[in-house]
Amino acid sequence: MEFKTTRQKKTELKGRNFLTLKDFTPDEIGGLLELAAELKEKKKKGVPVDIHRGKNVALIFEKTSTRTRCSFEVAAHDLGMGSTYLDPKSSQIGKKESIEDTARVLGSMYEGIEYRGYGQEIVEELAKFAGVPVWNGLTNEYHPTQMLADMLTIQENFGKLKGIRLVYLGDARYNMGNSYMIACAKMGMDFVACAPKKYFPSPELVEECMEYAKQSGATITLTEDVEVGTRDADVICTDVWVSMGEPDAVWEERIRDLTPYRVTKKIMENAKDTAIFLHCLPSFHDLKTEIGKEMGERFGLTEMEVTDEVFRSSQSKVFQEAENRMHTIKAVMMATLGE
Ligand code: CP
Ligand code: NVA
Repeated sequence: MEFKTTRQKKTELKGRNFLTLKDFTPDEIGGLLELAAELKEKKKKGVPVDIHRGKNVALIFEKTSTRTRCSFEVAAHDLGMGSTYLDPKSSQIGKKESIEDTARVLGSMYEGIEYRGYGQEIVEELAKFAGVPVWNGLTNEYHPTQMLADMLTIQENFGKLKGIRLVYLGDARYNMGNSYMIACAKMGMDFVACAPKKYFPSPELVEECMEYAKQSGATITLTEDVEVGTRDADVICTDVWVSMGEPDAVWEERIRDLTPYRVTKKIMENAKDTAIFLHCLPSFHDLKTEIGKEMGERFGLTEMEVTDEVFRSSQSKVFQEAENRMHTIKAVMMATLGE
């Protein structure tokens, strides 16, 4: 794929929202990845990129975060911008003030707004009334900035995206599963969701992605069969079995349903020799967290969606992936804020 020059990339996406990846063309996604790779190189060499001096961004987090928050804050700072972090408790959003009013207020003070929270309709509403670019930092349905980091990591490891077979194991109807299917369909990859049927992405989203796949040459497979699904995979990925905001009551059922889909050494051996493992993090791969410990004690487990062995193996690229959050988020802000 041939992409536009950096200058074009930095101006062409000016004013755009970044909400699902659905409204971005493969060329635009490829352009953002190239820009991110360039920004990563500049960061390593200490070359300044503070072209947005004097601007400010608002970072709304209705759910907790480590990577996404830090990525937006560091990236904003590197671009020369100020940032305001609004935590889940300290703003009026949703409780005393509507999303529309919040959007109008923040849009009058800030050049861009990040939102992490619950329903996708909230970030869409924010985008409708803000008058400045709005970036989705995770909703129940989508996690598009995570996709850019994952695609950059895949590109760094394989030198390409087209034709890469990416298998997602676990709850494939939530933000990560949905977003992988969209990203793979856009970029001409072979996407496999490997999960019990009730965790498959919705037929409507599958249909939409099939349309993207027709254009890009991607394939989409949904299977319950772990052995068939993971065979010859290039990328094996998973996510926590219970996402932020879901009730505690679902743990038992998830553990029962998804344990056969845990990423193990056997699964990695069934994939290609060159396969890598990705996880957006945080991950329950040991008992060193409060929730991991509690669930471990309640259900007699030492690990959940991935074994500690795979997580710590040389095939695991999860920390490279985490670092890439910052470079890709910087690319999104740089491009949508324009020059
Ligand atoms: N992957 C990810 O979004 O991490 P955080 O929840 O820490 O932001
Ligand atoms: N599915 C997870 C992703 C965390 C980055 C969640 O929504 O909690």
